[in-house]
Amino acid sequence: MAAPTPSLPLSPELPVGLPDALEIARWAGELFNALPNGAQHQAATPPDPPGVTTPLPHQLPSNIAPESAQSAQAIAAAAPALVPDAQAGNGVPDLLATRPHGFVGSRGGHAQSVPQTYASVPPLDVSVPSAGGSPFYFLSEAQAPAVPAAAPDRIPSPAPYSAFGLDDLAGLIPAEPRAVDAAPANASGFYFLDGLSDLDAPAFADVPKQEPERRTVFDVDSVRRDFPILAERANGRPLVWFDNAATTHKPQAVIDRLAYFYAHENSNIHRAAHELAARATDAYEDARKKVARFIGAGSTDEIIFVRGTTEAINLIAKTWGKKNIGAGDEIIVSHLEHHANIVPWLQLVQETGAKLRVIPVDESGQVLLGEYQRLLSPRTKLVSVTQVSNALGTVVPVKEIVELAHRAGAKALVDGAQSVSHMRVDVQALDADFFVFSGHKVFAPTGIGIVYGKRAILEDMPAWQGGGNMITDVTFERALFHGPPARFEAGTGNIADAAGLGAAIDYVERLGIENIAAYEHELLDYATGLLRNVSGLRLIGTAADKASVLSFVLSGYTPEEVGKALNEEGIAVRAGHHCAQPILRRFGVEASVRASLAFYNTRAEVELLASVLQRLRAARPL
Ligand code: ALA
Repeated sequence: MAAPTPSLPLSPELPVGLPDALEIARWAGELFNALPNGAQHQAATPPDPPGVTTPLPHQLPSNIAPESAQSAQAIAAAAPALVPDAQAGNGVPDLLATRPHGFVGSRGGHAQSVPQTYASVPPLDVSVPSAGGSPFYFLSEAQAPAVPAAAPDRIPSPAPYSAFGLDDLAGLIPAEPRAVDAAPANASGFYFLDGLSDLDAPAFADVPKQEPERRTVFDVDSVRRDFPILAERANGRPLVWFDNAATTHKPQAVIDRLAYFYAHENSNIHRAAHELAARATDAYEDARKKVARFIGAGSTDEIIFVRGTTEAINLIAKTWGKKNIGAGDEIIVSHLEHHANIVPWLQLVQETGAKLRVIPVDESGQVLLGEYQRLLSPRTKLVSVTQVSNALGTVVPVKEIVELAHRAGAKALVDGAQSVSHMRVDVQALDADFFVFSGHKVFAPTGIGIVYGKRAILEDMPAWQGGGNMITDVTFERALFHGPPARFEAGTGNIADAAGLGAAIDYVERLGIENIAAYEHELLDYATGLLRNVSGLRLIGTAADKASVLSFVLSGYTPEEVGKALNEEGIAVRAGHHCAQPILRRFGVEASVRASLAFYNTRAEVELLASVLQRLRAARPL
C-alpha cells in the first residue's frame, strides 16, 4: 500500500470521543522515546502478570487503550490500518470508525499483538524516532523515520518458538536453526517436500543434550505462581487440587505455548509448501525430540504421538499384539492395572484365544515378584505393567519385571501414565520394549500422548489406522507405508498440544525431576502421617515405595460423601473406582477416596485435608 500523503483529513471530522491518528501517533512516539533502548526494550521487559496492565503515559479511552506498551508497538506495525482506505460517501472518512488492528476493542486479549513474553521474537522494525519524529511513516515525509514503504515486508516473521512464559525458561530451549534454513540451494526450500526420506525426523544425535539450570531450593510458593488455575476458588474457598492422578494443571508456559502456536505457527504439517507449514512441522518435531530426551529414548523415530495412554496401549495391542499373539499365548498384567491396561488385552485375548494372567499383590499393594516368576513361561509373549498404580500409588519394580520378562523371551510394556510426572524415567535403562504415557498427567494439554517403542520392534509392526501422512504411495490396488513413527500417525495429529507437551517437559526439566520427586516424597510422608491419625480412616495402598497417592475409605461415609464434603471446602479429590476396579476389589471395596499430590501441593493443603476428615469423623463417630 502506498504511503498516504500528509494532507489526508485525519482529525477534523472525527466522531466525538475518538482520538485522531495524529494524537495516537504522538502518544506512541512519546512512549517509544521514553523506552531506554527503543524497540530492544521489548525483549528485556518482563511480562505483565495476568490482569496487570503497563501504565501508559496518557489516559487513553478505555475501549481502545492498548493493554500494554507492547500493544502500542503493534499499533505502529498496523499503522496502515489506521489510514482511511477510501472516503465514505457522506464525506466522512472511514478513519477509525472500524476498530484498527492492534487496539483492544474490549478487555479481551492483546488483539493482533505478540505478548512481550516472547522474548525471542524479533522486535518490530520500527526505528527509534529522532527527536520530534514519529514512527508513523504516513504523517509526513519529513517526519518519517527510515521505514521502507512496503509495509508488510517490514514486519519480520516471528522466530521459531523458542522462549515463552517465564523468562527463566528461555535458556532451556535449543536455538536450533530450522531444517529449512539448512536446505541445499537446489532443494525446494521446505525440507519436508524434498523427498520422502525427509519425513524422517532429524537425527536424535542432533538434539542438544542440555542440562537445564535448576532451582536449587524447591520453592513451592514460587512454583505455584506458575499455575494460574491454582489462584482459583472453589465453593468460595481457595482451590486445593488433589486430583493430579486424574489430570494435572498447566503452567503459564504451557498455556502461552499453545497461544503462540495458534497465533504464529498454525498449519497442518509435512504437507504444504509454505512458511507456516514449516513452522508447525518444526513445532511438532521439536516436541518429539523433547519427549525422546525426557524419557531417554535413543531416537525420535521411536516416539509416536497418540491421544494418550489409552490410545497408546490400544495401538500396541492392535498392531504388535495382533501380529505376535495367538491362541495359547499368554499376556501378563498386574493386579494394579488401570482398565486401559486390561481391556485392550481382554479384547485381544477374546479375538485370538490367548490367555491373560495376573501378578497378585501383597497386603500393602506391592506386586509379588515370586508369583510373577511362577507365571512366566515360554507361552508368555508380553508382560504389560504400570510403573505407578493410579489407584494406590504403588511404585512397581518395573526394571526387574522387564528383565524377568526378557529372560522368558517375552516383550515388556511399561505404562508410565502415573510415573513420568513423579520420577526420572529412562526407557533404555529400563530396557522396556514399549513405554506409554499421557501428556495431561505431566502438566501438558489433554489429547496428546506417547508410544515409545524400540526401533526394531516398531519397524516390524503393521500399520494401524490408515490415511494421510502415513503413506509413501497409494494406488487403488495398494498403499505403501512409511516407517515409524509416521506409519502410526495417520491423519492430522494434535500439533499444538504436542508443542504444549514439549513446553511442559521443558518446565518439568527446569524444576528438575529429582527435586520434584524429593519434594513430593516428603509431602506424601507428611500427609500419610496426618491421615493415619484420623480415626476410622483406612488407607488402601501402603507399599514401602509409593508415589503421591493417598487412597482411603472413612468409616461412616461413602467415598462419594467424603468427596462431596471435601469439595465444599474447595478440595478436589476423586471418589470412585479410579478406572481400576480389580485392585480396589482386591482390598474389599468398590470405591475409595483418592487424594493425589503434585509438586505444587503444600503441607498446609494436606493439613486442611486432614482437618476436614477429622471433622467429618467427629460428626459420625461409631
Ligand atoms: N487415569 C485417570 C485416573 O486415575 C483418569 O483418575
